[in-house]
Amino acid sequence: MPHDNRPIGIFDSGIGGLTVVRSVHSLLPDEPIIYLGDTARVPYGTKTRHTVTRYAHQVARVLLERDVKMLVVACNTASAQALPALEEAFSEEDGIPVLGMIQGKKVAPPIAPRKRVPIVGVVEPGARSAVEATRSGNIGVIGTEGTILNGAYQRALEALRPGLTIHVVPCPLFVSLAEEGWTKGAVPELVAREYLAPLLEAQVDTLILGCTHYPLLRPVIRQVMGDEVQLVDSAPATARAVEAVLKDRGKQAQAGLGQVQYVATDHPDRFRRVGSKFLQKEIDDVEVVDL
Ligand code: DGL
Repeated sequence: MPHDNRPIGIFDSGIGGLTVVRSVHSLLPDEPIIYLGDTARVPYGTKTRHTVTRYAHQVARVLLERDVKMLVVACNTASAQALPALEEAFSEEDGIPVLGMIQGKKVAPPIAPRKRVPIVGVVEPGARSAVEATRSGNIGVIGTEGTILNGAYQRALEALRPGLTIHVVPCPLFVSLAEEGWTKGAVPELVAREYLAPLLEAQVDTLILGCTHYPLLRPVIRQVMGDEVQLVDSAPATARAVEAVLKDRGKQAQAGLGQVQYVATDHPDRFRRVGSKFLQKEIDDVEVVDL
């Protein structure tokens, strides 16, 4: 069987994407991973599509220059706002490469064609899981403002099953609560009750946690939404999508290479400290890069 021992490049606006690393690493423990968190410029969720696309492009380029075999956009906001542009610039799938271009504008020097790789985002896998889970076809989506306003989840769901009823709510404060470790007690519960009230009212039977941070608030979201509602985290579905791509293209690594390397654009100490909660495991070394 052919092997490709190069790492998988996973990136996020900060530490949140470590929830995706956890899923990928647990499903594919032999795969080497480089995780890059853009901690200097987090959050992406409040920024415009143009800015998120520019940042995502720069981060992707750093990973491609380290010879990753595929790119995983772990950030929901970046998947929603920037995936089409990343695919245009870097995806192996495209026909004639439009090198270093984003939406027709030159943004950086060209990237070598051999560096084009498969790209997986979190939105489509998450939407697919929700469509599999729903019985009533009444689905809720929560995410950052950027993710919700972009409409990427709504489009992905509609493409998978036309005619679904979709209710969306941006929940920006959930990001800060998760990072502060404020995931239990009266404060997150009050915030969750406020945000989720329209979804309870709409009687969704499935709720997509469309942000890297929200799985940490799962118990409180569960408490508010009740036991009957299916909570969908995109991370395990994304890990399965990564596995399918690697198998399909004969890009799996040999056994025993499953190291994870952490890279951040700022504040390695905070990355280690807060990131460990997201990863549910200690993080030792964090390299810092300047983009
Ligand atoms: N990683 C982002 C997401 O999944 C949340 C944090 C941010 O706003 O950058 O949408």
